[in-house]
Amino acid sequence: MKNDWNTMAKAYEEFNNTEDSYSFNIEWPCIKELLPNLNGKNVVDLGCGTGIFTFLLEKSCPAKIVGIDFSEEMLEIAKEKAKANKSNVEFVLHDAAACKDVIKEPVDFIFSSTTSHYIENLAQLFENVSASLKSGGECIFSIIHPVYSAMYPIEHTDESYPSDEEWTVRYLDKSMRAYIQPWLEYNDNYENHLSKSYHHTVSDYLNAIISAGLSIEKVCEPMPPEEWKKTESYRYKSFVETPVYMIIKMRKN
Ligand SMILES: C[S@@+](CC[C@H](N)C(=O)[O-])C[C@H]1O[C@@H](n2cnc3c(N)ncnc32)[C@H](O)[C@@H]1O
Repeated sequence: MKNDWNTMAKAYEEFNNTEDSYSFNIEWPCIKELLPNLNGKNVVDLGCGTGIFTFLLEKSCPAKIVGIDFSEEMLEIAKEKAKANKSNVEFVLHDAAACKDVIKEPVDFIFSSTTSHYIENLAQLFENVSASLKSGGECIFSIIHPVYSAMYPIEHTDESYPSDEEWTVRYLDKSMRAYIQPWLEYNDNYENHLSKSYHHTVSDYLNAIISAGLSIEKVCEPMPPEEWKKTESYRYKSFVETPVYMIIKMRKN
C-alpha cells in the first residue's frame, strides 16, 4: 500500500486539491463545524498525505502541528507546499497505526482523513490514538463511509482488474478490496492501476473506539452542497445513494 501511495502521489494532489473536490465541498465544511479551538494547541494529522487538511488546520494557529504519513512521495509534495507557503507544519514518515512511537508527548487534538481503511488493525490504531492524546484531548476521524468501502470490488486472486459490475455493496464481507481508484480512472498516466484497501464495518469502528477508551461526541454523515442538485446533479445523486464520508468526533476522558 505504501508503494501504491508513492506512485499515486502526484495524481492524488492534482485531483483532490481542486475547488470542486469532495474534500473541500463536503468533508471540510462538516469538519469545520466539529473542530475544537486549536489556538495554541498541539495537533497531529494522521495519514496527512500531501497536507491538504494539515494546512487548513494550521490556519487555526496551533502551537505545533505534525503530519504523519507512511508515503515518502506524498510527504515530499506536502513539504514542497510547506516551503512555498512558509508553513511551520512538521512532517514525519511513519505508520499511523503505530503513531505513539513518534508522538512522544500526549497532544490536544488528533485528526485523520480517509486513511483508516488502509489500516488493517483498527484496535491498534485507536489504542495508539488514545495513548497519544492528553486527558480531555479530542480527535476527529473522517473515514470513508463503510457503505462506500463495502462497494469496493473484492481482490482477485490473479491480480486481474475488476469489472464495473463488481462495484456493488457487500457490507459484511471483510475480504481485502482491490480496485482502480475512481479519481484515477480518467488519468491516462495510470491505466489499470490497482489499489488495495480494507473494508471495516460501522461496528468494527465503534468497537475499536470503545475498546480504546474513547468516548464518541458526535457522528456526522455530510450531505453534498444543496446547489449541487442543480449544478452537479449526477454527483449529488450518486453521493446521496452511497455516501463517501462518515465523520466521528471523539474525546479521551
Ligand atoms: C486518501 S489519502 C488521504 C490523505 C489526506 N489525509 C487527505 O485527506 O488529503 C490516504 C493517505 O493515507 C496514507 N496512509 C495509508 N496507510 C497509512 C499508514 N498505515 N500509515 C500512515 N499513512 C498511511 C497514504 O499514504 C495517503 O497519504
